[in-house]
Amino acid sequence: MSITKLWIVLALSAGVLAAHGQPGDTLTSSTPLSDNQTLTSAGGIFELGFFSPGNSSEWYLGIWYKEIPDQPIVWVANRDTPLNGSVRILNLTADGNLLLLNKDANILWSTNTSNATYPLLQLSDSGNLILTGGIPKSILWQSFDHPSDTFLPGMKIGLDFAAKLDRHLISWKSSSDPSPGNYSYGMDPHGVPEVYIWEGSSRTFRTGPWNGKGWSGRPDMWTNGVLRFHFVMNQHEVYYTFESLNKSVLCRAVIDESGVLQRLVWSTTSTRWDIFWLVPEDPCDQYATCGANGMCTTTYSPRCQCLQGFTPKSPKDWDLRENSDGCVRRTSLNCSTDGFFPLQKVKLPDTSNASTESNKTLNECRDLCLKNCSCLAYALNGESMCITWLSDLVDIRIFIDGGDDLYIRLADSELDSIRSNSGNKIRLAIAVTIPVLSSLLLLCVGLLLWLKRRRRNHGKVMSSHSIGSKESELELPLFDMRSIKAATNDFSVDKILGVGGFGPVYKGQLEDGREVAVKRLSKNSIQGIDEFKTEVLLIAKLQHRNLVRLLGCCIEDEERMLIYEYMQNTSLDAFIFDRRKSSLLNWQKRLDIIIGIARGLLYLHQDSRLRVIHRDLKASNILLDHEMNPKISDFGTARTFRAGQTEGNTKRVVGTCGYMSPEYAMGGLFSEKSDVFSFGVMLLEILSGKKNNVVLQADQRINLLGHAWMLWKQGRCLELLEESISHSYPVSEVFRCFQVGLLCVQEGSEDRPTMGEVVLMLSSESVMLPQPNRPGFYVTRTSIGEDCSPSEITITELEGR
Ligand SMILES: *[C@@H]1O[C@H](CO)[C@@H](O)[C@H](O)[C@H]1NC(C)=O
Ligand SMILES: *[C@@H]1O[C@H](CO)[C@@H](O)[C@H](O)[C@H]1NC(C)=O
Ligand SMILES: *[C@@H]1O[C@H](CO)[C@@H](O)[C@H](O)[C@H]1NC(C)=O
Ligand SMILES: *[C@@H]1O[C@H](CO)[C@@H](O)[C@H](O)[C@H]1NC(C)=O
Ligand SMILES: *[C@@H]1O[C@H](CO)[C@@H](O)[C@H](O)[C@H]1NC(C)=O
Ligand SMILES: *[C@@H]1O[C@H](CO)[C@@H](O)[C@H](O)[C@H]1NC(C)=O
Ligand SMILES: *[C@@H]1O[C@H](CO)[C@@H](O)[C@H](O)[C@H]1NC(C)=O
Ligand SMILES: *[C@@H]1O[C@H](CO)[C@@H](O)[C@H](O)[C@H]1NC(C)=O
Ligand SMILES: *[C@@H]1O[C@H](CO)[C@@H](O)[C@H](O)[C@H]1NC(C)=O
Ligand SMILES: *[C@@H]1O[C@H](CO)[C@@H](O)[C@H](O)[C@H]1NC(C)=O
Ligand SMILES: *[C@@H]1O[C@H](CO)[C@@H](O)[C@H](O)[C@H]1NC(C)=O
Ligand SMILES: *[C@@H]1O[C@H](CO)[C@@H](O)[C@H](O)[C@H]1NC(C)=O
Repeated sequence: MSITKLWIVLALSAGVLAAHGQPGDTLTSSTPLSDNQTLTSAGGIFELGFFSPGNSSEWYLGIWYKEIPDQPIVWVANRDTPLNGSVRILNLTADGNLLLLNKDANILWSTNTSNATYPLLQLSDSGNLILTGGIPKSILWQSFDHPSDTFLPGMKIGLDFAAKLDRHLISWKSSSDPSPGNYSYGMDPHGVPEVYIWEGSSRTFRTGPWNGKGWSGRPDMWTNGVLRFHFVMNQHEVYYTFESLNKSVLCRAVIDESGVLQRLVWSTTSTRWDIFWLVPEDPCDQYATCGANGMCTTTYSPRCQCLQGFTPKSPKDWDLRENSDGCVRRTSLNCSTDGFFPLQKVKLPDTSNASTESNKTLNECRDLCLKNCSCLAYALNGESMCITWLSDLVDIRIFIDGGDDLYIRLADSELDSIRSNSGNKIRLAIAVTIPVLSSLLLLCVGLLLWLKRRRRNHGKVMSSHSIGSKESELELPLFDMRSIKAATNDFSVDKILGVGGFGPVYKGQLEDGREVAVKRLSKNSIQGIDEFKTEVLLIAKLQHRNLVRLLGCCIEDEERMLIYEYMQNTSLDAFIFDRRKSSLLNWQKRLDIIIGIARGLLYLHQDSRLRVIHRDLKASNILLDHEMNPKISDFGTARTFRAGQTEGNTKRVVGTCGYMSPEYAMGGLFSEKSDVFSFGVMLLEILSGKKNNVVLQADQRINLLGHAWMLWKQGRCLELLEESISHSYPVSEVFRCFQVGLLCVQEGSEDRPTMGEVVLMLSSESVMLPQPNRPGFYVTRTSIGEDCSPSEITITELEGR
């Protein structure tokens, strides 16, 4: 009887919804929500309803983006108690309790609220599900207080002391199982509040304390044109929140099942989620990777070093790059005579055991630390907050740009020896930096000349530079800021095509109708001015149908921008790694792309006026035009070689893990052959549709190269092919291509072919191919963090020891 009644109510309410045309955003106690019914927020952005992830037979109540493809889920109610039957009902009781019921009217989830009059459930356009009641109306419960794995603008991550709320994210178990996974993202209010990622109860990442501008550990995000972050601390609550500067741009942050927090921004132009930033991003983001009193840097190798005045606790392990034991003090302290060593541009150490005093100057902070014998370091956070550390300094990293200053307590004798050593150090530093500085100076002078001349003859600019020993001319149109602003709709957020390490890339349309891509160097970009100049100087001279064409640049005040031709089909990675798009690439198309890239690279290595090593070849740096012709892009890290030179060495290894050859990643040695290695990786990725830096066989930690090598040895090459090309292809061509790929990724650089040989091998059936040897780097070492330097090999560094 009551069941029939219920169905009548359901049918009636469905009728009401249908009559309105659109389901509303509000649920009252008289109209439950069932099965296929949904609530839609007033602006149509979010939808609440029942879903079943993947192909599972289990159902959940959740909120998702209504209009975005794949409708990403932002919140799940019954993570632990899925609905398994065919009947699903969300009922708001008359006294204000929200119940999730199955067929047998079992309560699977509820908000545990009660005692309210006139309850009302409403889905807002911010994605918050709000239960209100009473007169005057008050909030009984809201989904923003109980986040799942997604952090939305306006949501607070942190603690509300009075309401006893700890709002934090918890990852899904897997993409088809929303139950709580191993990772969480939340705030630890002890000492100075910081946001952490935890795996179970151990920390894997922290942001560093808030310093007024942003988190100490992410100086690259302190200013950006897309998102703004806020940190609030008072006696009632402490939290962190963010907003999108353009309210109509959708963004979210998600902690995924492997513990990576990604901040995603929806791009309406390219209809996809762009990764705005993610953590942990590099090995130094990994919590305490260098142990206590160690510091981490991504720009030198080895990346772990002891703080000044400290020495490895277990020197043997340390030499083997096993750093977790950390470092110990070389000379013990004597409270009355100690001093401080300033360490600049760092992510401040873990503050969970630190003490703070507000309203202090740097000198007052120093005195405070000096007077207290158990104080080991101090720093002034923001304008006036003095932080003092009383225990080991954990998880420090060094930045090239940005970061805070930390003052470390050291014994007087230790400071003396640093002072007397610094003479040598400076001389060493000069020896290393003079060549860099002088080339920078030359570039600067060049740019100045260039700017001067520009005033005289507007439009075209000419200037002379010397690179190596050759004199070369630079001829490049200079765009003015006004026309770039007009082209990109004043750098509108929705024109952003992607965001790289240097800053955002915008899509624009010039006054003459040409579509362009504008690469805007962000002011506090870590890859700085010199990469920009390298790119301008290099690419202006290079012209080839398989290289992206630079149309001009724009330099005004602090702004530096490069203007490229716009590539309609974005980049190669958007095709080969995307299940839907990859079917657009048949065998012939893929082979054409491979050969195109090979030709472009051959031009760089041998045929251009300068001999150029790209150093960062990867699928995302290959752009595709409207006819799917590949164009090599991103010359920010490229190097030129003089005639006769075949190899270079750098202590600053730049590039992308998974694409770097062993001799480059571990020894900083780069040559044409390190580009050939990256090309080989890319070739195998194009054939397989799989990324190299992902573990393919978890038990053996084998990556794509290892997988390809195994299949080759067993004569099962065709199994590597991406599914969508499994129909029409000439088998001999596939074998040949596969073999060339393996030849390119061989461990020994001298075994690898040159690009000239590669082009020949790919385009002629009659050339005999040698048998490949074992590839380099065919096991991945870490799943995240992507550490490229294996511990068995010690690098001889340029830096003196
Ligand atoms: C819900 O939708 C599915 C698919 O559209 C349909 O098969 C099912 O019958 C619907 N259920 C109800 C109760 O309308
Ligand atoms: C669901 O199952 C169908 C058919 O069994 C399959 O084609 C599809 O890929 C599956 N989807 C997911 C997300 O697993
Ligand atoms: C559905 O869930 C209920 C309660 O959680 C459980 O008792 C029942 O066995 C489940 N039925 C199926 C078919 O899994
Ligand atoms: C749903 O709520 C209404 C109003 O409070 C109540 O009459 C009805 O019995 C509830 N249904 C179930 C299945 O609990
Ligand atoms: C409601 O109370 C039950 C039992 O105490 C608890 O398991 C559940 O997590 C609570 N629900 C919410 C949304 O807090
Ligand atoms: C509901 O409200 C009444 C009156 O305000 C109060 O006496 C009662 O304890 C409340 N019950 C709950 C469960 O809060
Ligand atoms: C979570 O941790 C457990 C135990 O360490 C492990 O077995 C499981 O694979 C982990 N799950 C994920 C998704 O990493
Ligand atoms: C600390 O320094 C003072 C003054 O130089 C000296 O008298 C004292 O012996 C030192 N103490 C230790 C433990 O070295
Ligand atoms: C903070 O102190 C506790 C207890 O002494 C210790 O276990 C923990 O490692 C310390 N944390 C840091 C970051 O130093
Ligand atoms: C900070 O300290 C100065 C002097 O010590 C005092 O005049 C000022 O009022 C203080 N400000 C706050 C906000 O406490
Ligand atoms: C040093 O500072 C800490 C934290 O402020 C405090 O707990 C401790 O008592 C101080 N020690 C001395 C000797 O003043
Ligand atoms: C905000 O974004 C929307 C759509 O993405 C766009 O139409 C609008 O012009 C942008 N507003 C500003 C001020 O950039």
